[in-house]
Amino acid sequence: VEYNVIVLAAGQGKRMNAGKNKQFIELLDEPLIIHTLKRFIQDSWCQHIYLVINPTEHQQMQQLLANYLWNNQVTLVEGGKERQESGYKGLLAVKSEEQERIIMIHDGARPFVNEEHLHALAQAATQKKAALLAVPVTDTIKRKNGDNVETVDRSTLWAAQTPQAFQYDLIKKAHENAISANFLGTDDVSLVEVLNEPVEIVEGTYHNVKLTTPEDIMRAEMILNRQEEK
Ligand code: CTP
Ligand code: MG
Repeated sequence: VEYNVIVLAAGQGKRMNAGKNKQFIELLDEPLIIHTLKRFIQDSWCQHIYLVINPTEHQQMQQLLANYLWNNQVTLVEGGKERQESGYKGLLAVKSEEQERIIMIHDGARPFVNEEHLHALAQAATQKKAALLAVPVTDTIKRKNGDNVETVDRSTLWAAQTPQAFQYDLIKKAHENAISANFLGTDDVSLVEVLNEPVEIVEGTYHNVKLTTPEDIMRAEMILNRQEEK
């Protein structure tokens, strides 16, 4: 199943506290965003990458692509203030002849997604129109209401990840609906959920973490080291 992907890298990485957008942090000698892009470049099912960037980092990102990547399947798109806006701008950049293909939306800050799961996700989205990678919640979750604390039944809870994959027309419609309803979701699938459309969960791995705070960097380098030994 051939697909295209929108990779979101237009954030500021405030919680990472690195003094720069976390996409540029080096993990074992390569910037985070390069690790993420390589996952897709190495997957033969992936046809084109729309990399959504901060307009102030256009030149810096272009230079990075020239230094680390050899191929021309990456198009730079300028993002927006919120993640959701960046995703929508990515969708608008997809050429009409490319809109027949499954479109994935992925966090630039998730460099560990693997090919097996990319393929499972693309197949699920072909059948169901909307699918995401997620893992069962392992923590015991409490709901606190004033002084009352109760334990939530975790057997139906999933922690959402990216990529999330869609039939193009559906996710574009979902974004446009969210804009007119003034709805800001924390992921793209949530915009489809409010349309009451079915969504498929593809079980991923706990490795597919998003790098958010400085502690995540050490863990990421450990994962990369182990992968390079293989
Ligand atoms: N993102 C984006 N455009 C935005 C905000 C976020 O493209 N306006 C991207 C980020 O670059 C990141 C992904 O969405 O790859 C997930 O967001 P998050 O982990 O929150 O990254 P940041 O927003 O950069 O970090 P923070 O919230 O700590 O500032
Ligand atoms: Mg953010």
